[in-house]
Amino acid sequence: MAQRPAGCHGGPPLRAVLAGLLLPLLPLLQAGRSCSTPCFCFATPDTLQCRLVRLLEPPAELPAAVRNLSIVGGNLTVLRAAAFAGGWREVGEGGGAARPLADLTLLVLTHDAIEALEEAAFAGLPALATLDLSHNRLRSVAPGAFAGCAQLRTLRLNQAVEARDARGLGELLDGALANLSLARLELAGNRLRELPPAVALPPALRHLDVRNNSLQALAAEQLDGLAALGRPRLHLAANPLRCDCASLRPLLAWLRNGSAADRGLLHCASPRPLKGWPLWRLRASQLGCADDDDDLGLPGDGAPGPPETASYVFFGIVLALIGVVFLTVLYLNRKGIKRWLNNLRDACRDQMEGYHYRYEQDCDARRASPGDL
Ligand SMILES: *[C@@H]1O[C@H](CO)[C@@H](O)[C@H](O)[C@H]1NC(C)=O
Ligand SMILES: *[C@@H]1O[C@H](CO)[C@@H](O)[C@H](O)[C@H]1NC(C)=O
Ligand SMILES: *[C@@H]1O[C@H](CO)[C@@H](O)[C@H](O)[C@H]1NC(C)=O
Ligand SMILES: *[C@@H]1O[C@H](CO)[C@@H](O)[C@H](O)[C@H]1NC(C)=O
Ligand SMILES: *[C@@H]1O[C@H](CO)[C@@H](O)[C@H](O)[C@H]1NC(C)=O
Repeated sequence: MAQRPAGCHGGPPLRAVLAGLLLPLLPLLQAGRSCSTPCFCFATPDTLQCRLVRLLEPPAELPAAVRNLSIVGGNLTVLRAAAFAGGWREVGEGGGAARPLADLTLLVLTHDAIEALEEAAFAGLPALATLDLSHNRLRSVAPGAFAGCAQLRTLRLNQAVEARDARGLGELLDGALANLSLARLELAGNRLRELPPAVALPPALRHLDVRNNSLQALAAEQLDGLAALGRPRLHLAANPLRCDCASLRPLLAWLRNGSAADRGLLHCASPRPLKGWPLWRLRASQLGCADDDDDLGLPGDGAPGPPETASYVFFGIVLALIGVVFLTVLYLNRKGIKRWLNNLRDACRDQMEGYHYRYEQDCDARRASPGDL
């Protein structure tokens, strides 16, 4: 009897190849689950410490060398002056933050039930570059809340504002941002019905993220205001855009200059016949504009828009990559595959012989049975 084909012949090299492909991804996976809620983590160049606690106050004692600090799922409610730098000392005592954290660059305060930012809440953090206040319930922000944060470039306020309308947001942030040198401001998921007024926005802004709000139309004056700021790139996806001529015309003019980062993701929410229709496939005839249509510059009127071309190219690249990986795996396994095929052939031969033999036996048995009766 020939040896049975062991199914895992050729297995070890294949597994090795797969492991080689997947290993580089592992650090990414592990980094992703670094902090589960609630938690309080801080990192210095030498150490990373995390505790699964629900903080009710900003931490009082932190090493002076701390670079990153995150407090998730706490109940911080009100951030007073120099909340993370030991509090504010009166002028008589020298003035300023009691224990400045000179190297702190990243501060993450998400899901912390923060309602108010008082004057100079982030004082004593001169190197702060990224501040994430997403998923809070801000009701009041003092005009000087971010005073002293000269290095702040990214401010995240996603689902952070308990403002019932956009005017509320404008008032809430009134004066607080205008002095900052922010490059990126995120206001996603705040139920905004209009863009925050340009006067409330920092002058050097490069990206304004207003995804997942309630923007139906962008008024020409608002976009002109943004243009005066130097045309930051707008992130507008997941807003209920109204696709009629009057509502859409200012946005289309803005898009023609290419300063929406996600123009391929914009869809009409109304009127009903155009619901879900991609903006970049609209034609002037669908908008029912009365006057000369050719200045709308709709991408759907000409050649296929850039998103379509880009997605085909991307798809092609992905297919090519998959093909290359497949061929590589085949090539690296060529010996294993050959052995496996040989074994399979042997096994088949064994099987056929066995079957043949049994068949002859069965036939004999049947032939014998009538005689027995
Ligand atoms: C702080 O966070 C940033 C961005 O997540 C990371 O690149 C950096 O390595 C962190 N620093 C420390 C000291 O852990
Ligand atoms: C959070 O803290 C505030 C006062 O600081 C308190 O009134 C509130 O009950 C706390 N919320 C929870 C869920 O503990
Ligand atoms: C904004 O900056 C100006 C000039 O640098 C300063 O006079 C003013 O007090 C600042 N406003 C706030 C709210 O920090
Ligand atoms: C969009 O924002 C709403 C609140 O305005 C939030 O409940 C929802 O989770 C957000 N959706 C996404 C995909 O972030
Ligand atoms: C496009 O941008 C340029 C300068 O960035 C400006 O002069 C022009 O008016 C803009 N066009 C539209 C239609 O907004």
